[in-house]
Amino acid sequence: MIFLTTISVSKKEAGWLTYDELAGKPYTVAYDDRAITINGKRTMLLAAVIHYPRSSPAMWKDLFNKVKLNGLNTIQTYVFWNIHEKKRGQKYNFDFNYDLFRFLDLAREAGLFVNLRIGPYVCAEWNYGGLPVWLNNIPNMAFRSNNEPWKKEMGRFVTDVARMVEPYLARRGGPIILSQIENEFRDGDPEYINWCGKLIEDLNIQVPWIMCSGDSANQTILACNSCNCVDDGFVEEHSTKHPHQPLMWTENEGWFEQWGTAQATRSPQDLAYSVLGWIAAGGSYHAYYMWHGGNNYGLSAASMITTKYAYDVNLHSDGTFNEPKFSHLGNVHRITSKYASVLLQQDKVERVPIPVWNQHTSQWVISTEQFAYEYTHTNGSHSLTFLYSKSKVQVNVLYHHLNITMSAKSVLMLDRDDTVLFNTSQVGSTLIRSKSQQIVKSSLSWKAWKEPIDGLNKVPVIKSNQLLEQLNVTQDDVNRMWYRVQVNQQVDDDQDVNISFKARHGSAYLFFVNDEFKGQVVSMEQVGDFKLTKNFKILKKNNYILSVLSVSFGLHNGVHKNQKEYKGILGEFLLNNKDISHDLWTHQKGLLGDHLGIVDPNVRMDVVPWDDDVEKYKNTPLVWYVAEFDVPNKVSQLAVNNPVSVKIDQGSLHRGHVFVNGFDLGMYYTTPGKCEGSVPCSEFVKDMCGKPTQIYYHIPPELVKERRNKIVIIEEIGGNVKDVQIVSNE
Ligand SMILES: *[C@@H]1O[C@H](CO)[C@@H](O)[C@H](O)[C@H]1NC(C)=O
Ligand SMILES: *[C@@H]1O[C@H](CO)[C@@H](O)[C@H](O)[C@H]1NC(C)=O
Ligand SMILES: *[C@@H]1O[C@H](CO)[C@@H](O)[C@H](O)[C@H]1NC(C)=O
Ligand SMILES: *[C@@H]1O[C@H](CO)[C@@H](O)[C@H](O)[C@H]1NC(C)=O
Ligand SMILES: *[C@@H]1O[C@H](CO)[C@@H](O)[C@H](O)[C@H]1NC(C)=O
Repeated sequence: MIFLTTISVSKKEAGWLTYDELAGKPYTVAYDDRAITINGKRTMLLAAVIHYPRSSPAMWKDLFNKVKLNGLNTIQTYVFWNIHEKKRGQKYNFDFNYDLFRFLDLAREAGLFVNLRIGPYVCAEWNYGGLPVWLNNIPNMAFRSNNEPWKKEMGRFVTDVARMVEPYLARRGGPIILSQIENEFRDGDPEYINWCGKLIEDLNIQVPWIMCSGDSANQTILACNSCNCVDDGFVEEHSTKHPHQPLMWTENEGWFEQWGTAQATRSPQDLAYSVLGWIAAGGSYHAYYMWHGGNNYGLSAASMITTKYAYDVNLHSDGTFNEPKFSHLGNVHRITSKYASVLLQQDKVERVPIPVWNQHTSQWVISTEQFAYEYTHTNGSHSLTFLYSKSKVQVNVLYHHLNITMSAKSVLMLDRDDTVLFNTSQVGSTLIRSKSQQIVKSSLSWKAWKEPIDGLNKVPVIKSNQLLEQLNVTQDDVNRMWYRVQVNQQVDDDQDVNISFKARHGSAYLFFVNDEFKGQVVSMEQVGDFKLTKNFKILKKNNYILSVLSVSFGLHNGVHKNQKEYKGILGEFLLNNKDISHDLWTHQKGLLGDHLGIVDPNVRMDVVPWDDDVEKYKNTPLVWYVAEFDVPNKVSQLAVNNPVSVKIDQGSLHRGHVFVNGFDLGMYYTTPGKCEGSVPCSEFVKDMCGKPTQIYYHIPPELVKERRNKIVIIEEIGGNVKDVQIVSNE
């Protein structure tokens, strides 16, 4: 028998390419088993994930410049269906931070490729995983499955997006080189997967499509999503199951926070180990999820997800550098692009176990945790080796007769003469200095107005003999809904009132008897139904109005076939063991302040009687606060680089939303962040235990004016507004 060893002799063009080298002329994108090919050239793609609605147009240009500075060549984003089509069939909304086309224009101008993940289910810790809530009202809807109503709506949106981005496709000389259908699909349903494959085939946009983690259609490349796609076994499994596809990693997790949990951090060394290890193992596409997390403005956060998103990634949420992570990974990118042609010319790389020093036996032994990956340029002009140690402790390995020290979980890149080109454990000292924080304004002159509780105002209400589901009434235009009921009970003496009801995760319920606040119950879970109870005392009374304000902290991002999201009081409302869920309930969408538009700078101040004496509202629930602030000209002019934020710390306010010049900066919550509980990737370490998960709320730079910025806060529980400050980095 004769064994033929095929040595790679393909004189393939391979290496590093940026979009500006293509000069806007039509080009082709395809792939082979090693990489994405652009005009036939295998191309190393290093991507920054930036979600356009999580920042703003004035930031995008700056972010893209920083992407280039960081040595990357690709931008990756989802498309967020529920912001573009809030109402079914409306003209798609591309205003302000929803302006996908401006985002693509700026990526093109910056010379960056784009991977557009259309979904339309995106997960993403985004409200309802990107799905519009009106899907709930379509009869027989079964999300993300082989279901006609779902396929009709999904097919329509995906087709519309594909048509709208036509000028940005590679075949038109645009920056889009990759797309994605569905996301993290693991629910079986091969008919649906085949339908997804057929859909993209019909769209024929002539760029490769990926599917990220889970099942994948034959017309797509299956990509990885993890904290480490080498150590989790993806490389081996993928090479066996999909030998003709390149190794692509769409989401290297930087993690994110939930209200009530402490900040999760991942070390630059661990991140560098995962990235360079992936390149060593044959990866040719890598994306940081996120590279810039940004902010979940308005109601865009999924259930329990904080307003800042993925804070500890390469750039902080406000766009400032996260050092030393930014610079350390920048060095990984530069060394990768420099040697991309040596790497990608080779068709396959084997991982070879190498000897490790056993201290106890004083012997070299072949280990299962240390490997070498060797690359040789086809013309013999260069060779490169990566040494890889996944051991959790420092070890010594033997390579070419050299006794080499490797830190725990690290990768060494060696030149042809075995000198160390890069060591993922060695964080350099050339960092970009961060600016110090300055208070721009404190002790603003606030005014207060208390939201009326009784409901005796001119807001439309719905009366019904049953408790209505919240999203069906609000369509998620606002995150609060009142439930009110008249209670007629003969009460001879002061009494305990005991309430028990079925509630939904990621929600707060505030109780009022007539005007009097009786406290709240909060369900801090991310998903599920819960029976909640509330006890309080009332004074001798015969009749009273019981008002319950249901507050949603966002809709869960995990959406599956028969899993519609809902909010509010779900029924079984027991008052002292009597079921009153079929009494006559009054439902009110949002607060009176919402209806009057008091956050809007164009609405006259005198629509409500603002009170200058804010001191007396300290610790009063449901109070609106308003103030104006100026910022020095040099701060407002430079707000992109010197981000301006609202600082809300523990001891000032408790929970609510903050608006600047009519724009909702998102939910704030000063509940302490616990360090207990694990993050799926063991590499993460919790930081700042017991402090609020978030203290700074970023203002998009174009909203920062030099004069008369209007800030409005709705505080749900009560606190001291006087401690709220406006801060900036100078
Ligand atoms: C997908 O590819 C596999 C393997 O080649 C094949 O068995 C299967 O029939 C294909 N599915 C479809 C729907 O084409
Ligand atoms: C390799 O280096 C380690 C650490 O310096 C040392 O303990 C060990 O004895 C060396 N092994 C050999 C064979 O030199
Ligand atoms: C890699 O860096 C770590 C941390 O500085 C160091 O302990 C180790 O000796 C280095 N290894 C090599 C081969 O440079
Ligand atoms: C939503 O409201 C409509 C009209 O009020 C009603 O017909 C429908 O059953 C409601 N759906 C749910 C899920 O509550
Ligand atoms: C209500 O709850 C309180 C405190 O848990 C308890 O002492 C009281 O007996 C309960 N009353 C009723 C009517 O269930």
